[in-house]
Amino acid sequence: MTSPTGEPARTRGPEGPDAPANPLTRLPLDELRRRTSMKWRTYPPDVLPLWVAEMDVPVPPPVARAITDALALGDTGYPAGTVYAEALDAFARERWDWDGVVAERTAIVPDVMLGIVEVLKLVTDPGATVVVNSPVYPPFYAFVEHMDRKVAEAPLDPYGRIDFAALEITFQEAAAGGRRAAYLLCSPHNPTGTVHSRAELAAVAQLADEYGIRVVADEIHAPLVLRGARFVPYLSVPGAESGFSLMSASKAWNLAGLKAALAVAGPGAAADLARMPEEVSHGPSHLGVIAHTAGLREGGAWLDALLAGLDENRTLLADLLADELPQVRHIAPQATYLAWLDCRDLGLGDDPAARFLDRGRVALNSGTAFGTGGAGHVRINLATSPEVIKEAVRRMAASLG
Ligand SMILES: Cc1ncc(COP(=O)(O)O)c(C=O)c1O
Repeated sequence: MTSPTGEPARTRGPEGPDAPANPLTRLPLDELRRRTSMKWRTYPPDVLPLWVAEMDVPVPPPVARAITDALALGDTGYPAGTVYAEALDAFARERWDWDGVVAERTAIVPDVMLGIVEVLKLVTDPGATVVVNSPVYPPFYAFVEHMDRKVAEAPLDPYGRIDFAALEITFQEAAAGGRRAAYLLCSPHNPTGTVHSRAELAAVAQLADEYGIRVVADEIHAPLVLRGARFVPYLSVPGAESGFSLMSASKAWNLAGLKAALAVAGPGAAADLARMPEEVSHGPSHLGVIAHTAGLREGGAWLDALLAGLDENRTLLADLLADELPQVRHIAPQATYLAWLDCRDLGLGDDPAARFLDRGRVALNSGTAFGTGGAGHVRINLATSPEVIKEAVRRMAASLG
């Protein structure tokens, strides 16, 4: 449903008497440092970690309730039914005005990356080419190569948008000799936070159709579109019927430790999805499905409060960089809680993250892992408090002296 302003309709906004507080300002650093997840255990305690995509938020209350209730009941068996798909369907209708999540054309998968692997196995053969838009989320390379497919890069343009001339050449090469090939689209795009427009996605569908390329859209960041942009599901554009989408509540509600995700097939891909081996559905955890379903069904107000906080952090980062690191260039993300910083003018070589870590004691993602276009860049995670962001930029600037 769409409001008169064209903004997606919301059940409740962040304003109002019973609105949740900004979840990004709830947890002090000493409490966060007690966490045992990757973000907090990879570097020594004097390092400020703003790298891997975990958020510094408490568990959303509806998720905590659902998990606690399940534990109280001993409901810790295997997942059953289509509750996750139904929750995503309701969310997609409300947020994106889209009715394309049809439970019969979905499959639960362990997580988005393993879901991508399983879907790519359905639509390509060993040795096939998988096209990606670099710079892109590093596991796109590792997982695709590990499954005996080749990655071909169609780099984004300097504004972080799809370069259709590059995409067409790459499609042409990928499909040469009649080989089945696929396009792993990241929508919204990680690390640039680009939200692809309806026109861009329709152009993708048309080009993919022309070259017989199957589109697999990673839409894990879809609920995390910030003020000023609107998410368009790939499967909602004309010509996308043979595509797949991978969706999950894991990024938006910080549930990566509670494994589950959904593969959604377009109408023309239903027969392919039906070939997905039954054992794939043994991977997601029942508690994961319960947690993700609760986030989608009851976590709307919490999500809105998060998005408002991320929007503030996005502005804060731009202001801090302008003041303290004016040589660093960046295009503010339209979505995700990540920002992609072009540090090439700092003269720190290909891997400025190494300097920020060694001298600044702040951990960012090195751009080199993101493929062509990543050298000289870093990715910073904004899903934290404004105080941590201020301290991180202060440390980055101090590391240059
Ligand atoms: C674009 C993208 N895809 C997939 C993932 C990982 O998702 P999952 O943990 O469900 O495999 C991430 C995590 O940050 C991501 O940014």
